Parts: sequence; C-alpha cells; structure tokens
Amino acid sequence: MYELREATRLYRQGPSVIAAVDHVDLSIHQGEFVAVTGPSGSGKSTLLSLLGGLDRTSSGQVLFDALDLARLSDRELTDLRRHAFGFIFQQFNLIPTLTALENVEAGMAPIRMKSRSRRDAARQLLDEVGLGSRTRHLPSQLSGGEQQRVAIARALAKNPSVLLADEPTGNLDSRIGAEILELIALFSERRGQTVVLVTHDREASRYARRTIRLRDGRLLDRARVAPDFSPALAL
Ligand SMILES: Nc1ncnc2c1ncn2[C@@H]1O[C@H](COP(=O)(O)OP(=O)(O)O)[C@@H](O)[C@H]1O
Ligand SMILES: [Mg+2]
Repeated sequence: MYELREATRLYRQGPSVIAAVDHVDLSIHQGEFVAVTGPSGSGKSTLLSLLGGLDRTSSGQVLFDALDLARLSDRELTDLRRHAFGFIFQQFNLIPTLTALENVEAGMAPIRMKSRSRRDAARQLLDEVGLGSRTRHLPSQLSGGEQQRVAIARALAKNPSVLLADEPTGNLDSRIGAEILELIALFSERRGQTVVLVTHDREASRYARRTIRLRDGRLLDRARVAPDFSPALAL
C-alpha cells in the first residue's frame, strides 16, 4: 500500500536546514497496524503528514498504491486525502457546535449519500465505538475519551483506505488511552483497516503488529518491511 524510498523532508530553521524525515525506506501493507514511536522532535508527525498527503517530500518518494504523492497536483492530493485518509489527532478536533452524530456525519461529506442513510451509518458507527447513547451530546458534554471515540468514528465514516493517528492518547489518562488503542486495534482487525499510529505510549506495541522507531528523522531497526506479514491474518 505504501512504499517509501529515501523519503526526506527538509525544513529551513533560520540559517540551517534540518531533515525532519531523513532518507526513510519503508513498506506498509494493506491491513497492517504499524506504530511509530520516537522522542519528541524525531519526525513522527512529519512522517505522518507525508503519508497522509498533508505535506510533500523534499526528495525521495512516498508511493501510495503506486502513486507518487509528491507528483500529484494540489487538487489531486486534496481529493485523495478527502477519500483515502482518515485522520485522528491528539486534540480530537471535533466541531464544538455539532452533536456527536453530526460530527460523524460531517466525516461522510466526501461520500455521496442520502441524508437518511448518512444518519443511519453515523449512528451505527457511534454504536460500534460504544457511544450509541451519546449521539445528541455536544463535544463539551463528553469526556476526553468519549470525544476521541467520536473522532475515530468520524475518521472511519468515509471508509478510508488508511487511518492515520497522531498521538491520539496524548491527552488521555493511561487507562482511557488503553481503551482507545484497543478500539483502534479492534477496527484494524475487524475491518482489515490499515492503521499508522504515532505514539509516545509504550503500550502501543502491545496492540500494533509492528513498531518502528524514529530518531532524528531516521528509521532505526530493520522494521522497514513486515517480514511475516500475511493479509489473511488481518481478517
Ligand atoms: N513546519 C516546520 N518548520 C520548521 N521545522 C519543522 C516544522 N515542522 C517540524 N519541524 C521540525 O522537524 C523536526 C521533527 O518534527 P516533528 O515531525 O513534529 O517531530 P515529532 O512529531 O516526532 O515530535 C523537529 O526538529 C521540528 O522542529
Ligand atoms: Mg508530533
């Protein structure tokens, strides 16, 4: 699904140039659940932005289904992002004036759908994340863990090829965080959903099938390809 070849993202910082992501080679298969760890500033978020088409490589390639993301026009990239990638962030990023149900429905905007079926599908998703009884609540009336569950339902609402999560448990206490990781792992398994999860959470490797470590933009280990990955295991 993903093939990174010497993927590099440079940033200018005053007079110097730093490589936030530095010659990363990496393969990610469909249905894999990959955790990305590393200290603050090691390039985790930058890598996720490259995978999600929010940013482009300075050199090297990020191939998604054989498409070189750096070669797409802004418009093509936006279109791909809207349909193929679901994002989850540390801050939840729900729309405060919309109910849980409406937030999830908003996630379906890229899909053409009758409003009635849109509502039913959103309700179904909220059920799946354990919030069937909270559909009419505003984000401010939900706990952090509940808000993140809504955000997961919203991200999955358009049935994205890949779920990209940037420290989704960073604002939650460890017990609630573990529930969120479990939920993401469950979706990955049940739906064969490809997941790339950036996390500080040491527990993450309990849920992910593969953990890769970044340091100063570089990939440690030999975790570039999952050696024993078999898509059948994802079902
Ligand atoms: N927009 C930017 N402009 C300049 N430097 C950046 C920018 N975004 C990230 N960086 C730098 O790139 C490095 C990696 O950042 P980041 O990907 O956010 O790391 P992490 O998510 O692992 O904390 C850091 O040194 C950071 O300062
Ligand atoms: Mg980050």
